[in-house]
Amino acid sequence: MRRGKKAGASPRAKLRPRRERGAPRGPITLAIDVGGAGIKALLLDPHGEPLTERARVPTPRPATPARVVEAILDLVRPLGDFDRVSVGFPGVVVGDTIRTAPNLDGRWKGFPLARVLSLKLGRPVRALNDAGVQGYGVIEGRGTEMVLTFGTGMGTALYSDGHYVPNLELAHHPFRGKKTYEQYVGGRALEKIGKERWNRRVKQVIDQIDPVWNPRRIYLGGGNSRHLRLDLPRHVSVTENVAGLLGGIALWRD
Ligand code: BGC
Repeated sequence: MRRGKKAGASPRAKLRPRRERGAPRGPITLAIDVGGAGIKALLLDPHGEPLTERARVPTPRPATPARVVEAILDLVRPLGDFDRVSVGFPGVVVGDTIRTAPNLDGRWKGFPLARVLSLKLGRPVRALNDAGVQGYGVIEGRGTEMVLTFGTGMGTALYSDGHYVPNLELAHHPFRGKKTYEQYVGGRALEKIGKERWNRRVKQVIDQIDPVWNPRRIYLGGGNSRHLRLDLPRHVSVTENVAGLLGGIALWRD
């Protein structure tokens, strides 16, 4: 594989490179975002700028570790060479191991994703919760900042002066009646109740979370955030979903 090769042949490429560059000096990061509906990937230069367009494939079903790993390998093959890999994963990630994957498959519990991908790709791999990675792509690094993602699942991430507090999982906390936050505003709820009611529900979720955590900023993201039509308070903003890949550079900051 060649460094810096464009992902022209990749499935559903969506993001144009921000700028054309010569051969960048420093490590190239392959950023991968595993989602409930799609797996996305692109290459980042040493400054965290995209070097390729975003490539995407639908998440295989059933989304077992073996099938997702296979899909990742197929997805990243045309992107070009890289030195290290960052993975955003839709569940609790501790070290290189997956603890939960509520919207994928039961077989993920205990799966050493980072180790397996590292063996397959021949490069070091770091993995983190997907909302955690997304936040690294958007936060300012001051005070308490929070990320809420709306996709198949609902992702939550918390930062204090730029430091990530791992694996905050508000998604599965009871919210209204017998429903958890994720059951209330996740992908299935959106499909069932339509965009208008879903927007009202998202507003209720924000109104509940905001005065409990009192973040300086709240960033909304995830695939379904494109359906948001809300008048948001000044400290709440909708961010681009590609942040889930751009944030991958932060996993190598130390
Ligand atoms: C998971 C989170 C994840 C979110 C978004 C939830 O179901 O529990 O870990 O961040 O979905 O993918």
